[in-house]
Amino acid sequence: MYPLQRHSSKDCFGCLLKPCSYCCPLLCGRTMHFLAWFNLLLLLPCFGTTKTCFPGCHCEVETFGLFDSFSLTKVDCSGIGSHIVPVPIPLDTSYLDLSSNRLETINESMLTGPGYTTLVSLDLSYNKIAKISSTTFSKLRYLESLDLSHNSLEVLPENCFSSSPLSDIDLSNNKLLDIAIDIFASKGQGKSLNVDLSNNMLSTITRHHEKSIPNIQNLNLSGNRLKFVPNLQGIPLRYLNLDGNPLVKVEKGDFTGLKDLIHLSLSGLHGFRELSPHSFKELQALQVLDLSNNPSLKSLSPEVIFGLNSLQELNLSGSGISSLPKTLLKCLPSIKSITLGKDIQCLKTIKEGQYHRQIGLTKKEVLSCHDSRGSVAAAPYVL
Ligand SMILES: *[C@@H]1O[C@H](CO)[C@@H](O)[C@H](O)[C@H]1NC(C)=O
Ligand SMILES: *[C@@H]1O[C@H](CO)[C@@H](O)[C@H](O)[C@H]1NC(C)=O
Ligand SMILES: *[C@@H]1O[C@H](CO)[C@@H](O)[C@H](O)[C@H]1NC(C)=O
Repeated sequence: MYPLQRHSSKDCFGCLLKPCSYCCPLLCGRTMHFLAWFNLLLLLPCFGTTKTCFPGCHCEVETFGLFDSFSLTKVDCSGIGSHIVPVPIPLDTSYLDLSSNRLETINESMLTGPGYTTLVSLDLSYNKIAKISSTTFSKLRYLESLDLSHNSLEVLPENCFSSSPLSDIDLSNNKLLDIAIDIFASKGQGKSLNVDLSNNMLSTITRHHEKSIPNIQNLNLSGNRLKFVPNLQGIPLRYLNLDGNPLVKVEKGDFTGLKDLIHLSLSGLHGFRELSPHSFKELQALQVLDLSNNPSLKSLSPEVIFGLNSLQELNLSGSGISSLPKTLLKCLPSIKSITLGKDIQCLKTIKEGQYHRQIGLTKKEVLSCHDSRGSVAAAPYVL
């Protein structure tokens, strides 16, 4: 047998029987040699349109649903070279991969034409794109996922994403210096958005308050140059990552208005020394707090963790914190696990206490700590 591309010969028949299945020759190829005639006859009416797979690209049709009633065309034009754009794509293309093509610019005339209107996902990662304009993606009316990671973008023009119903934007590993977070606000505001801005050179994040609040759910700002917690007030964030920024301290009010936040990561902030009392007070929904790898952070007072009523997981591994406040379990009523030092895991357990004549059997919540070998860790970790 010849290697087939994820399609059995049974699929091939199904594919051949559908009119205008322009990708059939690619998918079924030589295995269906004896059907070549038949194939050609069926395909003939389709030739002459842009529906053929462009040379060098690889087209794949995935069908699903009852009787294969739905199909999704993926076009992979990665690693070909910058002459590939503008590339004609089949009419019903959902996914286009233009990664690793040494592209330096990309504009709307390269992203226009049949097939582009229906595009749901576009991968432009690992190019050399230094500039986009506010109209570059304006023809992509159905685009949900845009990958611009590993490029050389320094600025993003206003409204560059506002024409598409995006739900995922990857801008990681670029050279962005400043960003106006309102750029992610869409007209409809229906869908929630995941934005990856990690590994850029962002030192400021600006807000234009007259504009609408972007509906960002997950925001990754790790590996930037932020010295302060940016003002993200009112954005319905559930996940926020500020790892690896030159943040020195967190102050009361820094997380104001982030009442939906579930996961906050503040790990690897070299030079991070101070958490002010009541810093996390507003984070009523927070379940996971990562403060790991902050060697300069030496203490955690009850006032600092005040208000974290939903917190279940606290990561302090690799931090300078070597002991926990005695009242910790009272301050963190929902806590399940705390990681400390090197691989020391503390779990909340309930111990049966002594029998009291008035109260009956008392239950006592304790933290029991173990290291990787399973033994109970010695003081000062034991509370
Ligand atoms: C897009 O870029 C190409 C190549 O640089 C250029 O020929 C074309 O005129 C540009 N189109 C627009 C609308 O700017
Ligand atoms: C955030 O970005 C960092 C660095 O690129 C990455 O390691 C991490 O997995 C990202 N977090 C999420 C949730 O994607
Ligand atoms: C805590 O953080 C460290 C370092 O970032 C990581 O390796 C570890 O998996 C984390 N532990 C938990 C329980 O999340």
